[in-house]
Amino acid sequence: MGIRKKGKFITFEGIEGSGKSTQIKLLKNFIEKKLKKKVFLTREPGGTSISEKIRKLIINDLKDNHNPYAELYLIFAARALHFDVIKEKIDKGYFVLCDRYIDSTIAYQHYNGSIDLNFIKIMQSKIHSNKLPNITFLLDINPQISKQRLLKRGKKLDRFDKLSLKKMTLVRNGFLKIAKINKKRVVIVKNDINKEVAHDLIVKNLLKKI
Ligand SMILES: Nc1ncnc2c1ncn2[C@@H]1O[C@H](COP(=O)(O)OP(=O)(O)O)[C@@H](O)[C@H]1O
Ligand SMILES: [Mg+2]
Repeated sequence: MGIRKKGKFITFEGIEGSGKSTQIKLLKNFIEKKLKKKVFLTREPGGTSISEKIRKLIINDLKDNHNPYAELYLIFAARALHFDVIKEKIDKGYFVLCDRYIDSTIAYQHYNGSIDLNFIKIMQSKIHSNKLPNITFLLDINPQISKQRLLKRGKKLDRFDKLSLKKMTLVRNGFLKIAKINKKRVVIVKNDINKEVAHDLIVKNLLKKI
């Protein structure tokens, strides 16, 4: 590890429209300006050139009626490539901020899907045995509110943005279960409030944990 202190791995999770992109940008700014640390901003699926191609396959080309293992294996192919980059950045002292990671796989593929939880954990352990995020911010919101926010955002809705309220609720409850099981790592941030207030909460928790 040398003299230089290693960086941190921070993930943002939550349903579509919960405010991940908004909060990750605010936190990037804070870490760069106030903590004077280098930030590597990335996302899943994606984060490398091949992984971004896989992202397009998952989001634009796969259909809900395709074999769910196709999606799962694509997610992990993208992640295997991505994690090498994440690790390199952490080793170089970066604060790596990642929009979605393992908890999304568990929430979508297990709690809102048909994949066995242990199978996901085994696949994850092959990519890295002990490199879970240092801290995860779960942006929690009522799906009805996030749907309204997505419509207001004005961007074209993709396969995931179009999930029904019922499915979004399954995913949301999945995330909340994950948070309950991983209390030390996952901080729940209720995001039905002003984004600056949510940002302050995130900063407060970050400073407490690092
Ligand atoms: N606290 C908030 N209050 C009101 N609107 C918000 C808040 N946070 C985010 N938004 C808006 O909601 C929409 C979805 O937020 P976004 O950050 O894109 O969510 P995600 O990345 O989780 O899908 C955006 O138009 C964003 O500006
Ligand atoms: Mg986003």
